[in-house]
Amino acid sequence: MQLINGYELAQKIYDEISPVINKLSRKPRLAIILANNSDASKTYIKMKMKKADELGIAVDLIRFDETSNVQEVLNKIKSLNDNPAIDGILVQLPLFEDWELFRHQIFNTINPLKDPDGLSAINAGLVSQSVLNGIIPATVDAVLECIKFSGAKLEGANVLVINNTDLIGKPLGSILATLNSTVTIANKHTKDLDNLISKADIVVSATGATNIIRSDNVKSGAVIVDVTSIKKDAKVIGDLTIDEKIEAIDGFITPVPGGVGPLTIACLLRNLVTLSKAHQDE
Ligand code: GUN
Repeated sequence: MQLINGYELAQKIYDEISPVINKLSRKPRLAIILANNSDASKTYIKMKMKKADELGIAVDLIRFDETSNVQEVLNKIKSLNDNPAIDGILVQLPLFEDWELFRHQIFNTINPLKDPDGLSAINAGLVSQSVLNGIIPATVDAVLECIKFSGAKLEGANVLVINNTDLIGKPLGSILATLNSTVTIANKHTKDLDNLISKADIVVSATGATNIIRSDNVKSGAVIVDVTSIKKDAKVIGDLTIDEKIEAIDGFITPVPGGVGPLTIACLLRNLVTLSKAHQDE
């Protein structure tokens, strides 16, 4: 298997957007709303902020705790929508458990022109209407970049997506269908997953359950994109078990860490720069 190096692909995106940022008359500005206590979210946000800072993108981190109520978040988003200095609003997922019921209301309050995540109903709807030149959710965009790097043809390919969320599986499945792949959207409860994996030309996996994809169930020549990144026994691992046996098989894999993760940050910041440029060209 050949490794798809997410850091290298991310650097290519930074090389593209850096001159665009430098030409803008003001720095792009991203507001990140954090409404959970997850250590993983804090780590992601730290990484996003570090990269943004290196590129000359300003970030405002706005934190809510469990004693806040959803209305306060909605009011905050409305004031950020009205603030011309803000180019993008990102509400980090997951939310506090009690707020999950209001997730759609929160995301749909974000002005679609300030939605670098592409998760508001308008932007998600455009993707499902086959509009692929707008804002594509960063993780989905990162997966597509990995597949593009492998050289695999999407048209006619059997693509298995093991994730059915609004963040990854649904928009990715929709885009792949638009690009004429034959898509199966599965999840970790899907029956006979091993059989589906063994038939797929491309597997995109984001289950959080490790050891889903192994040397004994992948097809020779397959492209495996592993979106999961979880900490286990002080190690960061994904859904794919990388060992000597899998390394000997023909095809491509994304490592964890160092695959989809860094690329997702680059795709998010690229979306933000696109929005900022559009605001400043107005
Ligand atoms: N949590 C994990 N990944 C993401 C992402 O891409 N966007 C948001 N908003 N939350 C996340």
